[in-house]
Amino acid sequence: MQFNNGNFLIETIVPKDELIISRTDLKGIITYANDTFAEISGYSADELIGKPHNIVRHPDMPKSVFKELWEDLQTKGRWSGFVKNLRKDSGFYWVYAEISGVFKDNKLVEYKSIRTPISFEDKKKYQLLYDELKIKNNEKIRKISYE
Ligand SMILES: Cc1cc2nc3c(=O)[nH]c(=O)nc-3n(C[C@H](O)[C@H](O)[C@H](O)COP(=O)(O)O)c2cc1C
Repeated sequence: MQFNNGNFLIETIVPKDELIISRTDLKGIITYANDTFAEISGYSADELIGKPHNIVRHPDMPKSVFKELWEDLQTKGRWSGFVKNLRKDSGFYWVYAEISGVFKDNKLVEYKSIRTPISFEDKKKYQLLYDELKIKNNEKIRKISYE
């Protein structure tokens, strides 16, 4: 992944009237991506399907957020939270994500996620909060490589 170009500073704004939707298997491999997900992430739906959902994981996101996400899915069947995602071109986009199970004949078969835009205030709040979480957990925070 190229993360040393200027695009890491460039935000893609999620339109207010659109939802970013994906589904995964129980291990987090993408099984469906809607057109908005493809457009906002900079990938084609074909590039996304079959890949682990961490394809859009942004390095600014603390590990503990995803640990909680998977624990909550296991114990409560759902998770919601604020996520900064990485685009194919190294840019980013912020969303509020709600993840829950997809059931067939009462059996959990997949997970689905629906994401909506968040306010500028929330972006500032969660950027700072996630930086603090990373520092607390001894995770590396943003560092720019000019190599
Ligand atoms: C339905 C579903 C949607 C997910 N959406 C995202 C997402 O948009 N961005 C993200 O970074 N991780 C998302 N995840 C979590 C990833 O599967 C993964 O745990 C995370 O990116 C951290 O990567 P890692 O587990 O390899 O450390 C999602 C998981 C599920 C089940």
